[in-house]
Amino acid sequence: MSDKPPMSDKRRPLSNVGGKIERQGDPEASALLHAAFVDAERLPPDTLTHGFHSYPARLHPGLAARLIGQLTAPGDAVLDPFAGGGTVPVEAMAAGRHAFAADLNPLALRIMEARTLLSVRGWRRQFDALLQEVASSSEAHVRARDTIRAKLSREEAAWYGGHTLRELAGLRHEIGAVADPFDRRMLEMIFSAVVVKFSLQRSDTAEQKVEKRIRKGLPTEFFVRKGEELIERWTELRSAVPPNTPAAELRLGDARKPLFGQRFRAVLVLSSPPYGGTYDYKAHHARRYPWLGLDTSALEDGEIGARRRFATGDARAAVEAWDQELGESLWAAKEQTARGGHIVWLLGDGQVAGRRVDAREQLARLAPRCKLNLVATASQLRPDVQGGNPRREHLLLLRHAG
Ligand SMILES: C[S@@+](CC[C@H](N)C(=O)[O-])C[C@H]1O[C@@H](n2cnc3c(N)ncnc32)[C@H](O)[C@@H]1O
Repeated sequence: MSDKPPMSDKRRPLSNVGGKIERQGDPEASALLHAAFVDAERLPPDTLTHGFHSYPARLHPGLAARLIGQLTAPGDAVLDPFAGGGTVPVEAMAAGRHAFAADLNPLALRIMEARTLLSVRGWRRQFDALLQEVASSSEAHVRARDTIRAKLSREEAAWYGGHTLRELAGLRHEIGAVADPFDRRMLEMIFSAVVVKFSLQRSDTAEQKVEKRIRKGLPTEFFVRKGEELIERWTELRSAVPPNTPAAELRLGDARKPLFGQRFRAVLVLSSPPYGGTYDYKAHHARRYPWLGLDTSALEDGEIGARRRFATGDARAAVEAWDQELGESLWAAKEQTARGGHIVWLLGDGQVAGRRVDAREQLARLAPRCKLNLVATASQLRPDVQGGNPRREHLLLLRHAG
């Protein structure tokens, strides 16, 4: 393990890998989708609060910024019902729009809370002092060789080396002792952002157990650096967001249902739903939930397209089930979009029960059932995350039919 600061840990989202872009449908709309893909290639992915915490398959901020900028006006409501780590709400705020975001993963909500925070300078200074205080107490535990027990199952504790586990437990204990619940939640997200590096899991994206040599004190040092990085990112976000922009509204909920009340309508629903049979969002953050005490049972049952449910089985039945889950999500998106507004989805081809599902064909099939028109598409070839043949990722623009 190197002592490099976490800030240099660049993660490349899937939508940042180039390839020929194919366009279909309305020329103006498909040109916009094309431009959004191009922005994802040419703009940096880790501006504002974007690179603060790992999130699988996060959207490229440049892509989101282009679509929000062209399809909405300042003050308009922008909804992302599968918001993950919060790329869309952050970009919506930076453009002076009213951001609404939801996810079924409680960790996603916590990350979004940290990433969309419009903090003031005085509070940031106080928070920095608190961060240093928590770190000093953690270092004191390390020096005194205190044995603080981690509140983890034996099986989970086996993902850490002995002294690293004790140090993380001490750090976690100090965070838990912070009186203010909001400050505590922010510190927990900083802990969450670094903890996987100090487990025996190879990395955030590779789940094998490996040997790691981690010197005493390094977890606390990384925690402080990550916290300082977040404070800098908050400063950047604060100055990027136009005055009087409302705070982002965040909900824990299922994207197949209305999330912000029956009457809520967004001018733009911009989202990247899971790709059929491709990721397991619940499994991805497995190291983090026990430290944070998060209940992921709703995600266990309600995560759409999850690889754990779609990897095997009868192909025809699996494709039908995937159509059903995605169709329900599309219907809900339509119900939450204002007439004259737009839905834009970034969706990759699915891989369900051994069968490749072309996401553009799938949306062409589902749109009329949801009383929507698939107005334009842009598609780009991507390397397959599971090591198979390349798949396409599609930007799909839809509007109310009629
Ligand atoms: C492609 S990721 C979104 C990434 C996000 N755009 C970002 O930039 O971080 C898909 C998200 O869908 C969420 N999800 C899966 N099933 C869901 C459901 N039924 N309702 C709401 N969210 C769901 C997952 O937890 C995951 O965060």
